[in-house]
Amino acid sequence: MSNADNASKSMTDIMALCKRRGFIFQASEIYGGVNGFWDYGPQGAQLKKNLRDAWWNDCVTNPPIGPDGDEVSIVGLDSCIIQNPKVWEASGHVGGFNDPMVDCKESKRRYRADHIMCICEDGDQEGLIFAYLEGDDESLAQARKKLDKNKKRKIEDDKLCTCAFLELSAEEWAITVGPDVKDPGSLTEPRAFNLMFKTYLGATATEDDIAYLRPETAQGIFINYKNVLDSTRVKVPFGIAQTGKAFRNEVTPRNFTFRSREFEQMEIEFFCHPEESRKWYEFWRDWRMSWWESLGLAGDNLLLREHDKDELAHYAKTGAGTSDIEYRFPFTAPGFGELEGVADRSNYDLKQHAEHGNTKLEYFDQERNERYLPNVIEPSAGLDRGVLSLLCEAYTPDPERPSKVYMKFNPRIAPTKAAVFPLVKKDGMPEIGKKLQTQLRKRFGAVDFDPKQSIGKRYARMDEVGCPYCFTIDGDTLTDQTVTVRDRDTLSQERIGIDKVEGFLAEKLSAE
Ligand code: GAP
Repeated sequence: MSNADNASKSMTDIMALCKRRGFIFQASEIYGGVNGFWDYGPQGAQLKKNLRDAWWNDCVTNPPIGPDGDEVSIVGLDSCIIQNPKVWEASGHVGGFNDPMVDCKESKRRYRADHIMCICEDGDQEGLIFAYLEGDDESLAQARKKLDKNKKRKIEDDKLCTCAFLELSAEEWAITVGPDVKDPGSLTEPRAFNLMFKTYLGATATEDDIAYLRPETAQGIFINYKNVLDSTRVKVPFGIAQTGKAFRNEVTPRNFTFRSREFEQMEIEFFCHPEESRKWYEFWRDWRMSWWESLGLAGDNLLLREHDKDELAHYAKTGAGTSDIEYRFPFTAPGFGELEGVADRSNYDLKQHAEHGNTKLEYFDQERNERYLPNVIEPSAGLDRGVLSLLCEAYTPDPERPSKVYMKFNPRIAPTKAAVFPLVKKDGMPEIGKKLQTQLRKRFGAVDFDPKQSIGKRYARMDEVGCPYCFTIDGDTLTDQTVTVRDRDTLSQERIGIDKVEGFLAEKLSAE
């Protein structure tokens, strides 16, 4: 698939299509929305389910062949969103899951300190410093305006000095003008802010009743690792997979669903002998990359990036391997945004839970006659970010079509697989169409039936939801039992026997 250049796609247009065609809606929209939360409409819910199902099928039900030529051993899990709060102390999330934050005492806004940039006049020791939001052209323009006004002259671009807010000293913070205010001194020093959502268990709501909504699905897997070993026949090396909601009180939710406060993850924790962790890390990194490619995210828009040492998360201490699979979203272009992380977590998590839970989590390897704590390789993907990347990739402007745009989804994940249109609402055409829809949806899932409006408008609707094939029942169908098939991508139309439709669709949907 070769779709239009992502840098030229407009996020506003993509979001408008998502709302118009029922992919994604702003949560609580009729109450003005709630920042960082999104609801999925009929098309979006199906698209998200298709992606989740594809992941589960390809990782758990039909796992890949591993580096030794054998099928990878992997089992599923569905753990709770709320666990004993000690889980999050052991995992390091209570103490370490923090972003440095800056509050503006005047505008009451809160910013991630690493997202604030500053400008001043080069070599100016006395003057004020002006803050703006990284990557936000409007915010930068405002800071420039304030600087010029303060200096009562226009400062040329080559006379500007730019640096990150975090590089400034405490004295300099005091003379910095915040992005949304006029006077200096309203920004606080950066301070840690825990990203976990808190709640209370039971009716009393005291400090002792605090619990957390999970910020990742991974820990549910670690705390069940022993249960899975004891209740199944898996042996190291093996993996446990789970999908589910995660919650983070993100300071600056933005870019549509990219950074949300409620989102879904698809995570595998793969347990292996410490000496084999490099081999498994490389296997998972490369296999996960090729998996995203198989869904149509191929080419220049997908990137595999190994982390620099200073980017490593608190659990990836050894630096044995961490990489991101990144996608060039329209709002990051020409840069990239993280879609999935693949990390060698060493034995950090099992060690922490063994210590904090005062329990033995070592594995006795009969083949090696050795007792050890396995290392863990973690491919951790965001389901919502996956959906967003598929939406952005599929979005294909085409001025020649009545809809001016179509969604070029890979048929495997397309939310609507086919549509059946009776040309007119008479002569038994709707009945024939309905029968065909019933037959097809039993085998292929979502198949639309639309007897209303002009055929052009019906095609346009299906182009915008990314339906790969439309079948039209017309006058000829009544005499020769053939229907017209219209191909979304090529716009070609051909006639096939109505009894051949199921086989045609089966072949087309499995071929791509
Ligand atoms: N267990 C490891 C872990 O949670 P992470 O990099 O923090 O690692 C994994 O998250 C994936 O979850 C990310 O690659 C991203 O796709 C998704 N993700 C993380 N925070 C998110 C957010 N606020 N909104 C949407 N997706 C998010």
